[in-house]
Amino acid sequence: MRIFLILSILVITSCTYNELSICETDNPSFTYCVEPIFEKNCIGCHFQNNSNGIMPLSNFQEIRDNVINGKVIESIKRKVGFMPTNGERLSTEEILIIENWKENDAPNN
Ligand code: HEC
Repeated sequence: MRIFLILSILVITSCTYNELSICETDNPSFTYCVEPIFEKNCIGCHFQNNSNGIMPLSNFQEIRDNVINGKVIESIKRKVGFMPTNGERLSTEEILIIENWKENDAPNN
């Protein structure tokens, strides 16, 4: 009986968790999952017409090109403080979302 109770609690909490993390799927949405990661962590430096010539990561095409060519994923997996420069490393979940999106050929979904 006690075991059953513990198991039900585990099942219930894992379901709630899955519903909340809509981005942790094999096919995450660009608009709801991928773009916000760039807006939060990258756009501060990687905006359009940056006078320092930093490549922009400010819209679908720019993000897609640099994810497909491997630069983005390489840069966020390098040492802490590389990208975002002097920032915290992206979370494992955030990195996985970008990788899963790439696996699906980076759709505008
Ligand atoms: C505080 C400013 C800053 C932030 C925030 C930042 N970057 Fe950068 N990034 C730079 C600068 C400056 C360069 C160019 C200098 C260089 O290549 O080292 C650069 C270069 C890059 C490059 C090209 C590296 C190469 O191999 O040529 C990639 C890819 C990149 N950033 C991705 C990102 C991603 C993804 C994020 C967000 C997760 C991010 N950056 C956040 C400043 C920043």
